[in-house]
Amino acid sequence: MEQKRIIIAIDGFSSTGKSTMAKALARRIGYAYIDTGAMYRAVTLFALENNLVNTDGSIREEELVARLGDIAITFGVNPATGQSETYLNGRRVEQEIRSMRVSDKVSQVAKIAAVRHALVAQQQAMGREKGIVMDGRDIGTVVFPNAEMKVYVTASAETRAQRRYDELRAKGDTSTTYDEVLHNVMERDRIDTTRAESPLRKADDAHTLDNSHMTIAEQDQWLMNLYTQIVAETSNGNN
Ligand code: DC
Repeated sequence: MEQKRIIIAIDGFSSTGKSTMAKALARRIGYAYIDTGAMYRAVTLFALENNLVNTDGSIREEELVARLGDIAITFGVNPATGQSETYLNGRRVEQEIRSMRVSDKVSQVAKIAAVRHALVAQQQAMGREKGIVMDGRDIGTVVFPNAEMKVYVTASAETRAQRRYDELRAKGDTSTTYDEVLHNVMERDRIDTTRAESPLRKADDAHTLDNSHMTIAEQDQWLMNLYTQIVAETSNGNN
């Protein structure tokens, strides 16, 4: 019996460890992995670098939308680490897009309808051949409403802030405090869930994973079990 290639949509709040688990699953089963948050972050970096942010911190939306055609986002695998990395117009920006400067602005960029439409169209094209793991906020609801496997990941805001804080520290950022990170996490949650355009919400047919008290190994196993079960069902024609 031939195993069917499927689409795996992983959605949830920021800093839930979605990307880590999505990447690990993709590598384990030989699927492509796409981090859609990185795409919104790359557009945000472009806005910051091209004078498309006002002095009061607001985004010059119309000008940014007019320049969407100038923004090419691609992914490449770093041969040394085996990790997928984000490129903005041919320049590797994997580190820069994770900075607080970008994190502070990205929710504002991600709520612009024309930005979302452009990125969603690219994401749908990437999934045409299936065999893909994609993580984000609207993958199971908007990008691939028919995805065979949907996971909705949650964890408490404090757990997530601690994880992001540890990450920043590990990268050498000693100036950002835990309270600033917690504030950023909560503010992004608020914007991501209340925005008019594709707010973050659990798809009706998504499986919820609360990983507040799970180890990485436990969540990887949980995901693998679900994948194995769904592929067995779809390959048997039950779905
Ligand atoms: O997953 P992340 O923290 O890198 O996402 C960055 C921002 O992009 C976050 O504020 C929500 C937004 N985003 C989105 O609106 N839709 C997606 N599919 C992915 C991310």
